[in-house]
Amino acid sequence: MDLVALNKVAVAMAAPGKGILAADESSGTIKKRFDSINVESTQDNRRDYRELLFRTTDAMRDNISGVILFDETIRQKAADGTPLVKLIEDAGSIPGIKVDKGAQALAGAPGEKITEGLDGLRDRLNEYYDLGARFAKWRAVIDIAGAEIPSSYCISTNAHALARYAALCQEANIVPIVEPEVLMDGDHDIDRCYDVTEYTLKALFDELYAQDVALEGTVLKPNMVISGKKCKKQAGVEEVAEKTVRCFRESVPAALPSIVFLSGGQSDEEATAHLNAMNANYSQIMPWALSFSYGRALQAAPLKAWGGKADNVDAAQAAFAHRAKMNGLATKGEWNDGLEKAA
Ligand code: 13P
Repeated sequence: MDLVALNKVAVAMAAPGKGILAADESSGTIKKRFDSINVESTQDNRRDYRELLFRTTDAMRDNISGVILFDETIRQKAADGTPLVKLIEDAGSIPGIKVDKGAQALAGAPGEKITEGLDGLRDRLNEYYDLGARFAKWRAVIDIAGAEIPSSYCISTNAHALARYAALCQEANIVPIVEPEVLMDGDHDIDRCYDVTEYTLKALFDELYAQDVALEGTVLKPNMVISGKKCKKQAGVEEVAEKTVRCFRESVPAALPSIVFLSGGQSDEEATAHLNAMNANYSQIMPWALSFSYGRALQAAPLKAWGGKADNVDAAQAAFAHRAKMNGLATKGEWNDGLEKAA
């Protein structure tokens, strides 16, 4: 393990003004996204769409530190034969890879999930390194439903798997992004989200310690502390920022260089406003850089603008560049909603 190289990548992921584009939708998820714009999910359409994102050169250079790819995409070539990985590297961004195999029912825990994909992972990581990946992602899913879910069993098994994945990544000189996503579906309030997120993060960092994972070469991809989508009382931007930062200060060691949030179903502007408020108001008391690793909150606008038509590529790239720029400003606490309206 080359910890100096790992740390360099982990720091670069959340360099000021930059964050990650999560473009690692599995076959099922990208089909859902394409269904929403009435485009068939063929290999060529998936390639064309992702190629247009990776060719948005100014945004990629200025605001996108890395791109998380799906297995198909890391092997795919652009229409002119250039590997998509090379497009990303040429734009000055770092290719990464989703390596988990998705969340399945957790035995003995109705309604809860465990993420699979550890078998054979060492070999897959070595292959992905050769294909250009310098970081990876593994997502664990923690649902909140009533008083019994999540169970401590669900959290501990997922934390254990995340740590096993992270140790294997570091052995292969790939930076692990550890993603324990506490879902924002449900009617729970922000304080319940706080408690579950704190418990989950503490369990995760215990396991990372037990399995000898070097935090200096690790990136955390968490949910924000936020009200459930169906909760009647929705916390405002300032409350989300204050509670998220407080929760992390209670549970995330200072040795970790970078935290990059998932968007998790927040609207584009909410995801930007929350990140901005944390960096604008709390940067003095945070030991880590705080940035984004958004899927939907970066892609919803360009996907809609594209609509599967080659004529719309310019409009889609403009929409992507705008969101990347807004989130880049939010990493520095320099965003305001006037900038959205001006655009
Ligand atoms: P969202 O930002 O759409 O939640 O996706 C991020 C991600 O990569 C989830 O694993």
